[in-house]
Parts: sequence; structure tokens; C-alpha cells
Amino acid sequence: MTRFLMIAAMLLTLGLGAAPMAAAQDAPEAEPRAATGGASTLEDILARQRGEQVDDAYRRLDTGDPDSAAGTVDQLGTLGFASDSEVYRALRYGTADVTVSTSAAAAGVLIQDRGMWWLQFRQGPLLTWGGYGLLGVIGLLAVFYLLRGRIRIDGPVTGEKILRFNSVERFAHWLLAGSFILLGITGLVSLFGRIGLIPLLGKDSYAVLAGASKWVHNNVSWAFMLALVMIFLFWVIENIPNRHDLKWLAKGGGLFSKGVHPPAKKFNAGQKLIFWAVIVLGGSISVSGLSLLFPFELPMFAFTFEKLNAIGVPGWLGMAPFPTELAPHEEMQFAQLWHAIISFVLMAIIIAHIYLGSVGMEGAFDAMGSGEVEKQWAREHHGLWVAELEEKTARKARATPAE
Ligand code: HEM
Repeated sequence: MTRFLMIAAMLLTLGLGAAPMAAAQDAPEAEPRAATGGASTLEDILARQRGEQVDDAYRRLDTGDPDSAAGTVDQLGTLGFASDSEVYRALRYGTADVTVSTSAAAAGVLIQDRGMWWLQFRQGPLLTWGGYGLLGVIGLLAVFYLLRGRIRIDGPVTGEKILRFNSVERFAHWLLAGSFILLGITGLVSLFGRIGLIPLLGKDSYAVLAGASKWVHNNVSWAFMLALVMIFLFWVIENIPNRHDLKWLAKGGGLFSKGVHPPAKKFNAGQKLIFWAVIVLGGSISVSGLSLLFPFELPMFAFTFEKLNAIGVPGWLGMAPFPTELAPHEEMQFAQLWHAIISFVLMAIIIAHIYLGSVGMEGAFDAMGSGEVEKQWAREHHGLWVAELEEKTARKARATPAE
């Protein structure tokens, strides 16, 4: 009998307990805000953990009301117009009336809590996607080399040389190349330092390396920008697309088959793509780099987002409008991410360029080494350019009266 009563009591208890649990699971009832005294409810916390947007007006606007504040001398009074937590909320949501001794806008932001996504992205996907992206390009080039080998000069070598780039052009190219390589290496040192180098070198040695890298990165950036302007001025005319480019692209530039040489002028379509990638991406890296070099002085993202929203770009991508009210620190976060992402893209392109300009193609390096290339190489890769040069020489010869 006792045992029966015990089992009945247990079943009853389980039944009573299970009913509200099931109800709670079927239709979770929103906890009234008043139940938490105006603070976050369990629903708010769970929604935030699920990554959903929670309207935080209940906290954002709860920053004290001087008119209804308890008198400062009353028992349990606020000792002022707002409690400490109300003041901190106002600081956190940027509504506090802050006066600081410097005039910089960033100094007035005492709490900026919208940086965690940036930190996590920088330490996570940016590193992994960027790192694997570069390794992927190197892997693809290795496969290309194994399948295609070095692209040789197909026809008989003439021993005749023609000037392709003069010394000023070569100087600008190597200034661009040297500075870009230094910027790439020092940039990667600062990005991969925490996960890749500190475990290897220890914190003290890394601190020295990081300091030196930062100095090199900040100062060499000027050489890169100067060289970028130089090559733009030198080569822009010859990089304007023309009708031969599509034919060149349709044949893959002859890169994938022996003996195929689609005609091209001074620069072929592949080189034009490299040129414009260097100008546009290099320009964008320079601008975002300047924004990082002069912190808070050159904010550009709120402005850019406003323009993109006006055109409707977020809608095309199925995204919510981009934020247009950014704290000065958020501007810096966006500038850092953009600078790093675009740099990874340009590094990947340049790795392929370095391969083709050196080991990948016989005769190519001379163009930037001595400046003079083998005529047969030029005929195969830039046939129309050679024809133009020959025509020019012939015209000159005709114009000069025979002595
Ligand atoms: C060690 C590294 C590099 C090597 C061996 C190299 C080699 C070359 C060669 C041989 C050419 C001339 C191709 C021709 O005659 O048609 C060239 C052109 C060019 N290089 Fe480089 N380069 C290097 C790094 C860079 C870097 C880092 C950049 C930019 C950030 C760059 C940008 C360009 C551009 C825009 C051109 C003209 C377009 C083209 O030919 O693709 N180069 N490079």
C-alpha cells in the first residue's frame, strides 16, 4: 500500500511538473518587462544568443530623468539626477553629455561596445580565409607549373633585342614591387602575430618584430603610393581596353596551349586586368591605409554607406541598409577590415603576376630586368606592338633622306 501511494505521488508530481513545462515549450510566454524591473528578460538574452536583433530601446533610453529623480537629500535618493547605471548606459549608447579637454570627436566616446564582431572577424574568418586564399593561389600555380611547365619561346630565337621599358618605367615598377612586398610581409606579421608568431618567438621578441614591422609598414606606404601614381601615368594609355582583348581572353591568352599566340599590342588583356587591379585595388588600399595612418581624421565609411544605400546596393545583396551613423572607432574598424581584405585579394593576384613574370615564362623577366626583350618573345606575346614598332622605324627611315 505504502509503495502504491509513493508511486501515485511520484506520477502526480511528474504530471503536475510536466504540464507547465510542456506549455512553456509549446508557447513560451514573453516575460513582462516589469518583472525584471525594466532590465533584460530571458527572451531578450536567448534572442541575443541566437544572434537575433533585439530592440534595446528599453536600455538605451533608460538613462535617468532629472525631473522625476528622487531628491538628493531624500532617503535612497540618487545623489544626483541619475544613478551610476543610468550614467553608464548613457555613456555606452553615446547619449551622455560628455565634455573632454581635447577637440577630437573620438575622445568624447568613453564606451564603445560595438567592436566584438570586428574583433572576432579579424581573429577568425579574416585570418583563415585570407591565409588559405594565398596558399590556394600558390597551390594552383604549382599545379599549373606541373601541367604546363615553363612557357617557352616557341619560335627560333633571333638574338635581336628590343627596348620594352625604359629605366624610369623600370624604377617605378621596382619601387611599386619592392614596397608592395615589404607592405605585404609586415602587414601579415601584424595580422598573424598573435596566432602564428607569438607561439613561435615568444612575446618579447615578437614585440620588437611587431614594432619594427609597424614602422616599416607606415613609412614604406608612401613609396607604394608614389609608385602607384607613376605607373598609372606611364601606362594608362596603353591599358585602355581595345577589340583585341576579347579575342585574347577567348583564347586564354595562349597560356594553356603550346604554340597559340593571340595578337596583342604593348599590353595584352591579362596584363590590362593586372594593371587595373593594381590601380583600383592599390588605390583603395592606399585610401583606407591613410584613414588608418591618421586615426579618426579621415572617416569615409558612413559617407560611403550612405551613397551605397541611396543607390540600393544592400537590397541587391539581400541585406539590410548599411549603418550610416558610425562611432569614430567603428569607422576605424571598417577601414581596417577593408584594408586587409582588399590587400589579400591584391596579394593573391600579385603572386600569380610574380610567377608569370619570373619562372612561369621564358624571356618575360628581361622586360623589367634589363628593359630589353628578345624579338621573338615580343612577336609571340605582343605581335601588334612589334608590328607598330617596325612600321614606325620604316616610316622614320623613309622620312630621312638617303645621304
Ligand atoms: C618580384 C616580383 C615581381 C616580378 C618578378 C615582376 C615582373 C614583371 C614583369 C616581367 C613585367 C613586364 C611584363 C611584360 O613585359 O609585359 C611586369 C609588369 C608589371 N608589374 Fe610586375 N613584377 C613583380 C612585382 C610586382 C608588384 C608587387 C606589382 C604591384 C603591386 C607589380 C605590378 C606590375 C604591373 C602593373 C605591370 C604592368 C602590367 C603587366 O605587365 O602585368 N609587379 N612585372
